[in-house]
Amino acid sequence: MSLSTQSLPATPQGFARAAEILRGGGLVAFATETVYGLGGDATNDLAVARIFEAKGRPRFNPLIVHVSDLAMAERFALFDTRARQIAAQFWPGPLTLVLPLRKDAGLSPLVTSDLETVAIRLPAHPGAMALLQAFGGPLAAPSANISGRISPTRAEHVMSGLSGRIAAVLEGGACAVGLESTILGLADGAPQLLRPGGVPAETLEALLGPLTIGGDANKPSAPGQLASHYAPSAALRLNAEGPRPGEVMIGFGPVPGDLTLSAHGDLVEAAAQLFHLLRRADDLAGPKGAIAIAALPETGLGRAINDRLRRAAAPRG
Ligand code: TXA
Ligand code: MG
Repeated sequence: MSLSTQSLPATPQGFARAAEILRGGGLVAFATETVYGLGGDATNDLAVARIFEAKGRPRFNPLIVHVSDLAMAERFALFDTRARQIAAQFWPGPLTLVLPLRKDAGLSPLVTSDLETVAIRLPAHPGAMALLQAFGGPLAAPSANISGRISPTRAEHVMSGLSGRIAAVLEGGACAVGLESTILGLADGAPQLLRPGGVPAETLEALLGPLTIGGDANKPSAPGQLASHYAPSAALRLNAEGPRPGEVMIGFGPVPGDLTLSAHGDLVEAAAQLFHLLRRADDLAGPKGAIAIAALPETGLGRAINDRLRRAAAPRG
């Protein structure tokens, strides 16, 4: 899909237009103090699927949810005393907190990769703040570059990578920090440095004591972090042409099913539906049941969907 990417000025009209695009499920790149983010409505499955499509990401890794204030953050994540203290000290600023996801958060499961935690950040850039206020909701925003390329720190970098793939870029000047936010895991137990970034680890350690380094959202260390999508309780059979007796069939395109990822073979729609349908199929199949799923092409978002399905279908230990 080719769009004519608008360049929007950092004016009240520009922010209002950007917010309108976001409300319609479109994507707007915007400056933060770290790097330019590729923003989409974090509650809208299609908008979040479009983020992965625009970036050409081969995998669905969880995205950071950007908020306008602490009250909005508390709608999505559970803050304990420690998390509130850290937020009070470092927000707005280049620090992302990974916290337990609220059950009633209402975020698209694509944003969190269906994990039980969520990464939240309150950016300090005046343009990012104005956009979040104009939009009035949470924005999923990974760096606004094609997957595997360097993160953009100027509007023209965004244009050179994503022109034609997103609705608009909000002009926001050069990013002051120039590298991504530090990600601090506070979801359970000892605080973890999940990604070094704009806030030095030493600054955090002075407050929190030594940080455990690492942690990988795709290889959860604690059972509590286990992502439900890695293990639907029903067995999952891929590349099915039709159901075997007792299987719940998930179709795609011309291959019909009890449920379908997208009747007309649209990969953005399929990505948007993926986690919802796996859960529904799992409920229909029951714990000892089986799910069959039609083949999806190994192109565009199909690669990320297939990656996730292969892991969901892998034998369990
Ligand atoms: O500076 C930044 O943080 C930029 C600007 C645009 O704000 N944003 C950014 O977002 O880098 P993003 O979505 O690309 O960051 C995603 C990373 C993932 O690769 C993962 O490491 C971590 O955030 N992450 C997100 N959710 C997580 C979770 N629930 N548990 C652990 N790590 C998570
Ligand atoms: Mg990036």
